[in-house]
Amino acid sequence: MNNYTLITGASKGIGKAIAKEAASRGRNLLLVARSLDLLEQLASDMRKQYNIKVEVLSVNLFKPDSPDLIFQFANEKGLNVDMLINNAGMGYCGHFDETDLALQLRIIQLNVDSCVRMAHVFLSKTDSSQRRYILNVSSVAAYQPIPYMTIYAASKSFIQSFSRGLRHELKPKNVYVTALSPGGTETEFFKDAQMEDIVKKNAQFMMSADEVAKVGFDALLKNKSVVVPGWMNKVGAVVSKLVPHNIVVPVAAKIYQK
Ligand SMILES: NC(=O)c1ccc[n+]([C@@H]2O[C@H](COP(=O)([O-])OP(=O)(O)OC[C@H]3O[C@@H](n4cnc5c(N)ncnc54)[C@H](OP(=O)(O)O)[C@@H]3O)[C@@H](O)[C@H]2O)c1
Repeated sequence: MNNYTLITGASKGIGKAIAKEAASRGRNLLLVARSLDLLEQLASDMRKQYNIKVEVLSVNLFKPDSPDLIFQFANEKGLNVDMLINNAGMGYCGHFDETDLALQLRIIQLNVDSCVRMAHVFLSKTDSSQRRYILNVSSVAAYQPIPYMTIYAASKSFIQSFSRGLRHELKPKNVYVTALSPGGTETEFFKDAQMEDIVKKNAQFMMSADEVAKVGFDALLKNKSVVVPGWMNKVGAVVSKLVPHNIVVPVAAKIYQK
């Protein structure tokens, strides 16, 4: 089999866990992120453990031409990419007006812009006669505005809406589109987002990246629209949908205010 699963942000966290999950099901991998050393280590482990083919590419998805470079690389290597996992993402917790604008625009660049570009290039450059798959990693943050993580929550609402719309458009073209919306997951996300203190207070609610990856990958293969891993997160998502925002948003603000 020459079919490949392309995973962005595969060097750590949820992306790395999805890579392991896909490999355990015999999928070949194309792993991308900036940290080449981490990608090479993971690739070597996956080849040994699962006897699959793995390619790695170091790219910075802040750069708008990165998606084109990734698919050019896949094309030159003759990889049949039929599955895209749009996972790379970042967040930041702080007051919007006191936080560097460039940082906030980078969050939009990575979480929104690069995800849209990756999906578009994937759909135009891969074989449309086969079934294809897109898993977009959103978040429970998509379900309500989150003060002090305003840009992050808005970016994930975009991804959820983007996924649902795309899913409907692409149904006749045999493309499965799923949004994976995890709650708090044990990864390095919170260190970079300056949220370690908030995480310590909510440590009992965290899931492992491996659990989240399994739920997400299963949902993609079953062609689910949106999947929220963990019953606590499911309840939270339903409450956020049903309860008016003038009640939910102040509660979110209490959790995220430092
Ligand atoms: N952790 C959570 O609680 C949680 C909850 C809900 C949703 N999510 C979402 O899950 C996804 C993965 O997050 P995570 O928790 O696994 O975070 P993480 O451990 O910080 O991993 C982020 C991944 O994205 C890659 N990345 C970051 N900037 C990049 C760039 N400019 N170009 C290419 N790759 C880049 C990183 O690799 P390099 O640094 O090597 O480039 C890394 O592989 C994100 O979309 C996040 O929003 C996370």
